[in-house]
Order: sequence, then structure tokens, then C-alpha cells
Amino acid sequence: MTTSPTPGTTATAVDLALAAALATVRRNSTTFGAGYPDDTTLNGRYLPRPATAGFPLGGNRGWTTSFFNGMEWLAWELTQEEVFRDAALAHSADFARRVRAGEDLDTHDLGFLYTLSTVPAWRLLADADGREAALLAADHLMLRLLEPAGIIQAWGDLSDPRQRGRTIVDSLMNMPLLTWAGEQTGEARFPDAVQRHTAQLREHIVRADNSTFHTFYWDIETGEALRGATEQGAFDDSCWARGQAWGIYGFALNYRATGDPLLLDAAWRCADYFLAHLPADSVPFWDLVYVDGSDAPRDSSSAAIAVCGLLELAELEGTGERAERAADAAHTMLASLIDNYTPERPEDSDALLLHSVYDLPKNNGVDEGTLWGDYFYLEALTRVALPGRKPFW
Ligand code: GLY
Repeated sequence: MTTSPTPGTTATAVDLALAAALATVRRNSTTFGAGYPDDTTLNGRYLPRPATAGFPLGGNRGWTTSFFNGMEWLAWELTQEEVFRDAALAHSADFARRVRAGEDLDTHDLGFLYTLSTVPAWRLLADADGREAALLAADHLMLRLLEPAGIIQAWGDLSDPRQRGRTIVDSLMNMPLLTWAGEQTGEARFPDAVQRHTAQLREHIVRADNSTFHTFYWDIETGEALRGATEQGAFDDSCWARGQAWGIYGFALNYRATGDPLLLDAAWRCADYFLAHLPADSVPFWDLVYVDGSDAPRDSSSAAIAVCGLLELAELEGTGERAERAADAAHTMLASLIDNYTPERPEDSDALLLHSVYDLPKNNGVDEGTLWGDYFYLEALTRVALPGRKPFW
């Protein structure tokens, strides 16, 4: 494939970056076979996902395994190589098994998990079992819709006192599964849930200065909005970089789904704040409270997510100043990721994208590759290489 030149990136740079990324996806796919790597690399190497009670080494649990499957689907779309199609289909069949077995489903991340696994199996290969499994996952996600607040609880068992009535900015990315289920079934309960949940986040999780809370609590009896708090950011009132990036992409995708102009406005508010808080190389520190001169770690995964969100915004705007501003910012950030945040030689790391942070307060995955950073980096390159392609979301 040959891509067209754009500000900040060149066709050659994107093509070379894609070739390197695809070589790493191929290698990792062979290494892990039917299994899954852990959420992040350890010193640059992906190890099999650890065994826990009820799950074998490399088993399908947690919220990040679908990024591995999603990369195989992207690789199949980009190359049409059967090896990627077969690997992607085998993993998506495992996701169908997971939802039917009821394994590790107490999470809003069913959206991430099924939008990138069995939904593409249906969309790209008309796999009816994938469609059925994705609808089961969407039904399960609907169980987390809390009345009267109209929010989808993010984490944990619905009776867990620490998690009751709590949702998080990341949840915006889980809504496309419900939108898709609504399109497939014609049932209004799915788009209704998307509309109510996103309206609550727009109103309460985006602050007056356009930064975002990571998480927010609602009173589950009265539905009253209570307070923001962080889980992975520096402080309750700071702005966790990845949360802000989820806000850009998540609000943009939900604007596309609902047509609600307030969601487009929310996506731009998140984007403007994010772009105004970037250091010189356009890749954020892990929390936007840090500025040039800080030795805090960067979170390149936030930049990769933001690139996809900005490219989505550019497409939604079509033409004009805002479309150009979004596209220019996306290409500048992507060029920096390609130049400064990828392995120099393939053998240097198993990650496509270096220097991400999973959860710094818990010292988990700091300055490592991450499955979602790799996925969104590959999605960003794919968006540039295949303009007009329908994203999985
Ligand atoms: N959705 C969890 C995270 O971004 O770390």
C-alpha cells in the first residue's frame, strides 16, 4: 500500500512504520498462538498473561486481551494475509467462548473486549457466531445500567460498596458495542443507554476548564451526581492523560453514533485541553499536570488514542478550520510517535509503541509497551493508510 503525504507525516514514514508494526504483530501472534500476552511488557518483553484462580497461563481474562485480537484483525485488513485472518478468527472464537462461559464479565470493558474481537469477525467475515457472542456481551453490559442515574457502572460486582454508582471516562469507548447492538437488533434500549450514559459523563466528568475527572460517583438510590475522584491519575483534581484521550475519542465516536452536537462539543473541549498541555514533542506526560522540564514518564498510549480521536474529529468535521486543526495535530503527534517512541530495531522490544504508563500510582507498567498503546498506534497508522475505512468502533 502507498499512503498519501500529510502534514507532520510522510507517506514513506507511515509505510515504513506500518511495515515494522506488522512485522511485530506477526511475531507476537506466532509467539502467543492461541494464548494472550500480559497487559504490558516487562522490560520491553511481553510475557504470557499470568495464571490466576480459574485461568491458565496466557488465558483470556482482564480488559486488554481484545487489543491483541484487534491488532490481528487490523493486520488482516491491511494485508489480506490468511495467517492474520486465521489467528484473528481463532481468538475471536475464544471471546465467544468467554462470554458463554461467563468468565470475567463483571466490567464495563465488555465494550473494548467485544468491539475488537467478535464484532470484527461479523463485520469482516460475516461470522454469525461472532455476531451472536457480541450481542450476548452487549446484553451483559446492559445489566450494569443503574437506575435512576442512567449510568453504566464501570468496575466490579454491582454490590461492591467501593464501586457502587461509579463510572469512569474510559467507559465512553465501551458505548460503541451498545450502538452496534442497537443497529443489529433495532432495540431502542441500547441507543437509549448510550444517550443517557454519555449525557451524564458530558455533564459531570468534564470539568469547567475542559479537563476531565478519571472517575465519578453517583448516588445509586437518588441518581444524584456526587463527586469526582481519580484511580490512575496523579490527584483527584489533576487530569490523567489517558482519561483525557479517552474523552477525545470517546465523545467523538458517541457524537457520530447519536448526532448530539453537545457530544461533539465535549470531544473538542477534551481535545483543546489535551493539545494545550502537551510538551514540545507532542506526546503527553502520564498526567497533564506535568509540563516540559519534568522527569515524569510519558504515556505514549494516550497520544496514540488521541491521534485516532483527532482523525475521527477531522473526518466528522469534513472541511474547514476545525477539520484542518484536528488533522494537523493528529499528524504531528503521529510523526513524533513514529520518530521517537518506536523500537529502533525489531529485536529491541516486543511492543509496537514504547514508553507508555498503565498505572503509575500502583507502579504497574511504568515506561513500558502496552497492548492498548500498540493497538491504537496500529489503528492510527491504519486510519492514515486506508482513509475512509470504517473503524471497528
Ligand atoms: N481503561 C483502563 C486504562 O486506560 O488504563
